[in-house]
Amino acid sequence: MVELSPLRQDFVWGTATSAYQIEGAVADDGRLPSIWDTFCRVPGAIDNGDTGDVACDSYHRWPEDLALLKQLGVDAYRFSIAWPRVIPTGSGAVNTAGLDYYDRVVDDLLAEGIKPFVTLYHWDLPQALQDLGGWDNRDTAYRFAEYAAVVGAKLGDRVRDWVTLNEPLCSAWIGHWEGRMAPGITDPAIAVRASYNLLLAHGLGVAALRDACPEPPAVGLVVNLSGCEPASQSPEDIRAARIADGHINRWWLDPTSGRGFPADMVETYGVELPERPGDLEIIAAPTDFIGLNYYFRQIIEADGSVPVLGFSQVPGPNAEHTMIDWEVHPAGLEELILRLAKEYGAEKIYVTENGSAWVDQPDAEFAVDDPDRTAYLEEHLAACVRAVEQGAPLAGYFAWSLMDNFEWAYGYAPRFGLAYVDYPTGTRVMKTSGKRYADLIRGHREA
Ligand code: FCB
Repeated sequence: MVELSPLRQDFVWGTATSAYQIEGAVADDGRLPSIWDTFCRVPGAIDNGDTGDVACDSYHRWPEDLALLKQLGVDAYRFSIAWPRVIPTGSGAVNTAGLDYYDRVVDDLLAEGIKPFVTLYHWDLPQALQDLGGWDNRDTAYRFAEYAAVVGAKLGDRVRDWVTLNEPLCSAWIGHWEGRMAPGITDPAIAVRASYNLLLAHGLGVAALRDACPEPPAVGLVVNLSGCEPASQSPEDIRAARIADGHINRWWLDPTSGRGFPADMVETYGVELPERPGDLEIIAAPTDFIGLNYYFRQIIEADGSVPVLGFSQVPGPNAEHTMIDWEVHPAGLEELILRLAKEYGAEKIYVTENGSAWVDQPDAEFAVDDPDRTAYLEEHLAACVRAVEQGAPLAGYFAWSLMDNFEWAYGYAPRFGLAYVDYPTGTRVMKTSGKRYADLIRGHREA
């Protein structure tokens, strides 16, 4: 078993989910559609024609999820709030019934001694706002701040830890440039403006939470980063890897840490930013931590056939890949944690997501022995330990995910859970990896 003693005594052990991936109940208690409900209806958008209509049915089965959290023995649960439940049309009237659901979740967690880490936006923009331009419309950022204030005012007496946005890269680049996620747009100029408005929303959201929460909140942004390594030492590949790093990593880290948008990327994109005076200060609002989601690194080669960016990702030399072809590369997590600390001066870092999808073989009782997922977990925790031994201020780790769930455009086939979900019955059963995680947490606490 991996040696965890170098991690701080108050290290936060957690696990994560997001609203659309687990809740189901898409029309209950006044919830209106989000862009994901719409996108799931586009023929061919989601593997197997899957949708989040039912998912893990957590909206109704929350007590079972809580039982899993207790079984793991985690200190914290990172979940997200569905904007279209709380303010179904995106602005204006608050839907009390929707907000009450999260109020109960928070109370139940606290009653078990589990800290809620609340993500305000995990990609489920109210469709009504998309109809007004979505993230291409600057107003959406202000609507987000209003929504943040509503939730902060309601839950901020009990919730201390807040995430504004989850992975703006996916919202902007995958949702508006590549079109593989909601809202399914394929226009680089829109994508660049969306990225800008998302970062503005983050900054406005930080201020709104600080204003609205009755107790001082701890607020951060969650980014998904990947080390970008050139496929060869040719000047072309080295340059391509630098652009990939700008697109994937620096575009989010530089402006939020007060450096402005990276000039090489502004030039590469060739899109005028919708910048107004004061925006950069808003975007660089001081935060209390940074959340890092890590899954894989990227090997990059120059590729003249790719418009605007001129690079593509090629398979890594490592033979081990998960079932959705993500390369297993634990050292990449260590490097990114250290980079956040050294290059960006991060003073408090959480790994807010990390995990892997494998083909599970449940027995008749839905028990799953999953050595690959268990090894992935341990190897990545070992990478966290190495980063801490080199001085990185790592404060916690959240395994993705508490249980199998709706994996966006991949549908339900990739299973990331520490617990297995039998979708026809909704039954949840802890996997071997979940039991190992529980043992590791207990061991670290007792040491
Ligand atoms: C991340 C997402 C999360 C989940 C994992 C596998 O990009 O934040 O919702 O889908 O990937």
